[in-house]
Amino acid sequence: MDFEIVNGQVEALETDCVVVGVEAEGKLSPSASAIDSAASGYLSELIASGDITGKAGEQLLLPKVPGIKARRVLVVGLGKTDERKDRHYAKLVSAITATLRKSGIGSVLFALDGLASASDDTYRQVRQLVEWSSAELYQYDTTKSKKADPIKLEHINILLGEADTELGEGALLDGVAIANGVSSAREVANLPGNICTPSHLAERAIALAEEFDSIEVEILDEAAMEALGMGALLSVGRGSEQPSRLIVMQYKGAEQGEQPHVLVGKGITFDTGGISLKPGAEMDEMKFDMGGAASVLGTLEAVAEMQLPLNVVGIIAAAENMPSGKATKPGDIITTLSGQTVEVLNTDAEGRLVLCDALTYAARFKPATIVDIATLTGACIIALGHQASGLLSNDDELAAALLDAGEYAADRAWQLPLWDEFQEQLDSNFADIANIGGRPAGTITAACFLSRFTKEYRWAHLDIAGVAWKSGKQKGATGRCVPLLTQYLLDLAEQQGGDEDEHGHEHTH
Ligand code: BES
Ligand code: MN
Ligand code: ZN
Repeated sequence: MDFEIVNGQVEALETDCVVVGVEAEGKLSPSASAIDSAASGYLSELIASGDITGKAGEQLLLPKVPGIKARRVLVVGLGKTDERKDRHYAKLVSAITATLRKSGIGSVLFALDGLASASDDTYRQVRQLVEWSSAELYQYDTTKSKKADPIKLEHINILLGEADTELGEGALLDGVAIANGVSSAREVANLPGNICTPSHLAERAIALAEEFDSIEVEILDEAAMEALGMGALLSVGRGSEQPSRLIVMQYKGAEQGEQPHVLVGKGITFDTGGISLKPGAEMDEMKFDMGGAASVLGTLEAVAEMQLPLNVVGIIAAAENMPSGKATKPGDIITTLSGQTVEVLNTDAEGRLVLCDALTYAARFKPATIVDIATLTGACIIALGHQASGLLSNDDELAAALLDAGEYAADRAWQLPLWDEFQEQLDSNFADIANIGGRPAGTITAACFLSRFTKEYRWAHLDIAGVAWKSGKQKGATGRCVPLLTQYLLDLAEQQGGDEDEHGHEHTH
């Protein structure tokens, strides 16, 4: 599929389908109006007859509209201005794309005149159109014997005024990079646990390094981790036949001396809970417990595609959490790479165990910032549901940057407190720290655990347990939070670029 910005008179542009908007109470947008004039008042008649109202969600596909070059017109209702928030715009773009897909249309021209979104940021509007239409066109069939029908929609054109062309083209490039990162993250996360093992994640990283000269990869096997003393990470994979891996990717987009930003992803390729076995219902969804790892892979791909002038290190702590005669048991005490000992009171709190060693390992890169991304706690779903990622940080400025990036990228996070008062829930009689802190504030105590390993760094933790995948009929990975992370890095790159604009969102590419 390709995206292109086009200029010109909407009625004179050739396409299988032109998409135009009508606002509430049948108010024609400029492009709809131009088509209406060329078609001698055809759309106005449909408004008069009540066939078009402009209500949000309305769609009317009109073949053979006279007087114009487009073979079809898709009229979409834009609703009132307060019905054009991100969530409405996302729904609109998905619904339009679904219609085009179902109708077997090959090329489309979006002529929405910037009216479909309440935000007047053209860069952002175009980028979102690219991201959301791409997301709608993703289909998983890797492990089906009957492959999905190929999607006919191949050319997506976006009509902009000439003055906005350059901005729009920058938005396209960024949007495509992010959309590809999201698709890749979804694809790897959707794979079942018997295919997507720690070694498979390592192969994905190797493939990424083969695709981009700017990415180097190093894989640490169990012997290498043993030699380093990564007792916490190794304790998680003990019960599994699948060997654990520490995957280290380095994206080099800036001078060698430039301190990198490090992303650390939880890569539990299947979480049975271990000896603290999980209940059976929906346990299959624990194949998504590598969603953090998937978002690190996807973000690195996007960053490399955008050639951001930054150094970024992506680390994936990969293991499979299984019960067996060799598995770690409740009460076992392990020694982390940092030297701190941990009493494993619950083997199902394994994410923090793989992450803590990866976070300690990250120190060797002298990071400017470290962000870890993890499907860490069921408690986060109770706190924030399926809308926001949980954000906890030891640095207010970093937290603000991530919240802002999530807001801009429509991939939002919400901050929870990391007060010292919570730390004592992790006290242990037998080790330096326990791996669980009881039922109250489960997301916070998990972050408290991680904070013990990141004291010297500007660090933030994103708990994506509620957002990494959807359950039910629509079961599947979402690719969150590739948009947030990529935006965060885009913003950093822009700040470095010199034009210190307060919001960092003056996107001039
Ligand atoms: N991967 C799970 C967290 C999870 C559960 C994510 C359900 C999404 C849906 C994690 O490893 C886990 O099991 N956490 C435990 C921690 C508890 C034992 C302190 C949890 O949340 O129950
Ligand atoms: Mn678990
Ligand atoms: Zn887990």
